[in-house]
Amino acid sequence: MSRDVDAPAAAHVRQDVSTVMVVGAGLMGSGIAQVAAQAGLDVVLVDDDVEALDRAAARIADSLARFVRSGSLTDDEASRARGLIVTETDLRAGGSSADLVIEAIVEKLEPKQRLFAELDAMCAPDVVLATNTSQFQIGRVAANCDRPDRVIGMHWSNPPQLMKLVELVVGPDTSSEAVAGAIRFLDGVDRRHVLCLKDVPGFISNRMSTALFMEGVRLVDEGIATAEDVDLVARLMFGHKMGPLETLDLAGLDTALLVSTALADFYGGDRFTPPDLLERHVAAGRTGRKSGSGFYEGLS
Ligand SMILES: NC(=O)c1ccc[n+]([C@@H]2O[C@H](COP(=O)([O-])OP(=O)(O)OC[C@H]3O[C@@H](n4cnc5c(N)ncnc54)[C@H](O)[C@@H]3O)[C@@H](O)[C@H]2O)c1
Repeated sequence: MSRDVDAPAAAHVRQDVSTVMVVGAGLMGSGIAQVAAQAGLDVVLVDDDVEALDRAAARIADSLARFVRSGSLTDDEASRARGLIVTETDLRAGGSSADLVIEAIVEKLEPKQRLFAELDAMCAPDVVLATNTSQFQIGRVAANCDRPDRVIGMHWSNPPQLMKLVELVVGPDTSSEAVAGAIRFLDGVDRRHVLCLKDVPGFISNRMSTALFMEGVRLVDEGIATAEDVDLVARLMFGHKMGPLETLDLAGLDTALLVSTALADFYGGDRFTPPDLLERHVAAGRTGRKSGSGFYEGLS
């Protein structure tokens, strides 16, 4: 990244992270919290819904138990990781002690902007604020912050505790020091990264995946193929580990609808437009694994 020689000196960015605050304890936030705790970091996991925190604690315990059963963690390592995570409904509980904040709340711009303004006011000035948004431009998420140079996109793959790649998104003001800090943190929690160099909606991964996902849904909606056959093409013809419709069930159809609608609004054309079938499933509460059904039945 080149910087204007007359630009003010970059603000100091905290590079050493021992406490992470993760805001939003849904599918993604709970997984990110688990990754950080498994790497030995203290984690404050915040959600404004106490039931979401209970579900997150159960999801993390279940995932750690699976790691133990598969032999990738010992009992001691699993209970140590569990003990490093504190759950809270009050943002202020983690705001003053966090060395890094990762936001993973609902995929809506206004709540994210409001949250970033609050975080900006309560976190130490050298702390990087990262957003796990799936598609919003980082500059927009940081719109109400006095530290846009210390705001970065940190877009995790789902499920975070299993997937090794994280996409870092450089906002229009993000400093190279903030990028370096984020890379250092990801290296420390054993995650590889790719850099999305321009602040475009959907970044690299969701521009690619949303186009494929929506086409998969369209094929089913138009009666051209079953969900099983769409997924089989992706698995056996493209070599993907999961098909687009099973991936949507995993990711949450409600979140996918928000993402595709926002991308369609921004880019126009048809490539990201959510088909009616996706909207019908979400309206009926069939949001995928988190509700027990989506494109497939009996999910857990
Ligand atoms: N699901 C995926 O596959 C995926 C992948 C990458 C990124 N993301 C992004 O991660 C973020 C979270 O997605 P998710 O699938 O975990 O959603 P989710 O619906 O499972 O969880 C969101 C959580 O945020 C909480 N929340 C909402 N507003 C809040 C606030 N102001 N303060 C504190 N908590 C709040 C909710 O109570 C809920 O528990 C979204 O931005 C999404 O686009 C999702």
